[in-house]
Amino acid sequence: MISKQITDKIAQFETPFYLYDIELLNRTLETVKSEADRYNYKVHYAIKANFEAKILQEVLKYGFGVDCVSGNEVKVAIEAGFPANSIVFAGVGKSDKEITYALEQGIFAFNCESSHELEIINELAAKIGVVANVALRINPDVDPKTHKHISTGHADSKFGIAYKEIEDVAARLDSLTSVKITGLHFHIGSQILDLTVFENLCDRVNVLVKWFIDAGYNLNHVNLGGGLGINYANPEGETIPNFVEYFSIFNTKLEIPSDMDVHFELGRSIVGQCGELISKVLYNKVTGGGKNFVIIDASMTELLRPALYSAHHAIENLSGGDGSKVYTIAGTVCESSDIFERDIELPTLNRGDLISLKSAGAYGSAMASRYNLHDLPISVYSDEI
Ligand code: LLP
Repeated sequence: MISKQITDKIAQFETPFYLYDIELLNRTLETVKSEADRYNYKVHYAIKANFEAKILQEVLKYGFGVDCVSGNEVKVAIEAGFPANSIVFAGVGKSDKEITYALEQGIFAFNCESSHELEIINELAAKIGVVANVALRINPDVDPKTHKHISTGHADSKFGIAYKEIEDVAARLDSLTSVKITGLHFHIGSQILDLTVFENLCDRVNVLVKWFIDAGYNLNHVNLGGGLGINYANPEGETIPNFVEYFSIFNTKLEIPSDMDVHFELGRSIVGQCGELISKVLYNKVTGGGKNFVIIDASMTELLRPALYSAHHAIENLSGGDGSKVYTIAGTVCESSDIFERDIELPTLNRGDLISLKSAGAYGSAMASRYNLHDLPISVYSDEI
């Protein structure tokens, strides 16, 4: 990744920090755009993956909309220059304040997660005299075959309207005069590498779209969410995810009227590989059990994914190192789960060595916290140094 090519340049920055390869980000965005354009698909960038202003400026250039899950995300997207009518707003717990704010902005659609929420959107829209555009987020009960903490599309998850509740919800729609159902929304999970999962999703979507159309609803779009995974194990081998296959699956499998638009909400696949967390080795120690621990100056406060999902981020010693050893790489925080990797063989690590934790552009800085009163990590962009 880029850290290896510009190690001398980045050595001046105080660690830990995020490093972004802006050229790779742009190549990724170009690929998404050209592959999506092939089928006239609309892409919303899932801002939750990374909301840094500089990253948003790059995404903005490609004409994508934004997928938001909070009022603040809607606000940041609008302030970054994204048109309100390109914004979708999902989330199981939208507050009245957030809904009202988004209604006032005139967003493209609320991705509505329950019949109760639908009633509240209706009420709040009536109060300010507007009609809310709503896509019903349906839980399709499709197994995304990914980590359980990032699975959303199975029947008992908190997300979406249950498959079996659809008829009841539809029956109540006529009485909700301040909402207009414009589409259906699905998002089954994240970091999906088995793409046959998306074929299963299409099978469900086809049935549901047909059901709504037969029932007389005039849907103008279907939103298939995000979820395309990235190669954490070998980032150099696949810097740009397989958008070609991803979009072509939907093109082959979706059977919906040709006048319906197809939308996606991609996060990780767009920004994941362009970011690295750069850290320094602080200490070496050997545990009573004989394990070689290396303590680095980053922790779960900068990159939570390993502690939260047992996620693996490839690690490289940018300072070289003679020979190799088996190490456990630990962060600084007072939590036993603050471990980046256990028992991996790496070139010898010594105090002061610069190391890279790769594939950290998505859900990295966005999930950083100030636990233990750590400073939030700064970001360094390759085209600014
Ligand atoms: N749409 C909705 C409604 C979502 O909830 C998400 C992600 C996305 C789109 C974007 O999914 P993506 O294309 O990035 O897979 N923090 C976790 C990931 C949580 C994903 C939450 N929802 C992680 O670090 O793996």
